[in-house]
Amino acid sequence: MPLRIVRNDITKMKVDAIVNAANKTLLGGGGVDGAIHKAAGMRLLAECMTLGGCDTGKAKITKGYKLPCRYVIHTVGPVYVDGTHGEKELLESCYRESLMLAKENACESVAFPLISSGVYGYPKDQALKVAIDVISDFLLKNDMTVYLVVFDRAAFNIGEKLFSDIAEYIDDKYVSDHIDSRVERMRRAEGNRTFARPLAAKCEECCAAPFGDDLDAILSEIDESFSQMLLRKIDEKGMTDAECYKKANIDRKLFSKIRSDVNYKPSKPTAIAFAISLELTLSETAELLKKAGFALSHSNKFDIIIEYFISRGNYNVFEINEALFAFDQCLLGA
Ligand code: APR
Repeated sequence: MPLRIVRNDITKMKVDAIVNAANKTLLGGGGVDGAIHKAAGMRLLAECMTLGGCDTGKAKITKGYKLPCRYVIHTVGPVYVDGTHGEKELLESCYRESLMLAKENACESVAFPLISSGVYGYPKDQALKVAIDVISDFLLKNDMTVYLVVFDRAAFNIGEKLFSDIAEYIDDKYVSDHIDSRVERMRRAEGNRTFARPLAAKCEECCAAPFGDDLDAILSEIDESFSQMLLRKIDEKGMTDAECYKKANIDRKLFSKIRSDVNYKPSKPTAIAFAISLELTLSETAELLKKAGFALSHSNKFDIIIEYFISRGNYNVFEINEALFAFDQCLLGA
């Protein structure tokens, strides 16, 4: 996935470059700046002293020294006042300048902290949105793997209303693990017997034709595959392949596999990511998932949250990820 949101200590990230949320002197400080200098060793400071500082919104590059990365890209985020002093534009510039510097130095992977969201006071959820928007925009035009290293859960400050709505929706839909009544067990047992029925038997409920000697006829009407439906939907939506897989946060190689193998079976999160990217309705999503052998399940919080957003026509990956994170689920594109 080109953009991954991970919870980690950025000094542990094994990538080509990590980004430091520095101050204008570039001579170290607290927070992530302090952690990076501590892990890199004194030679990082020595190189920083030759750079002559850095303006807010700009970025400069050094070696990584003792860190498990080749480079450290130092950028200076804005100090947040009240959002009316150009803070957003300066923060966007930090990500953009750092990404360009990474690209100029042939980096294939970069890890960012949430710049300005600590000492500099940028509200974490707004800082996260700026980060995701600028990085996603860059990844629409460039091939790179970018990690957003979220150090603490507070970074996903989900709106109270949204949170309580989703919590209620989950309660309504969620089949908790302990509901295993006798009736439930019998229903499941009955289902197994149905499937165990010999293939040659006549199946009154779901089709008139006996299975036995018409199997060829039935197989000849085999349904459209996942790959075929995906490509058809991309065309119907007037999207290009690249727009679709990048918006789904799927890398080009995986998309090429899906496109070239008509019988390719993706993972469930991948299938769901495409449904979100194509902004499919709930029934279209169910149909696409079914082609891959999946269904949205009411015994799975991840699925219920996805269903919540799709049923409300909200395909904003940022908001969906906020909700998934708040409920300890894996994120789309993570
Ligand atoms: N790994 C990943 N993220 C981290 C780490 C770490 N080891 N340590 C802190 N963070 C997170 C914080 O939780 C915060 O969300 O990095 C984000 C940025 O916080 P700060 O490091 O305080 O950076 P910033 O808000 O941009 O303030 C920069 O702080 O440390 C000084 O010298 C620095 O003056 C500069 C100012």
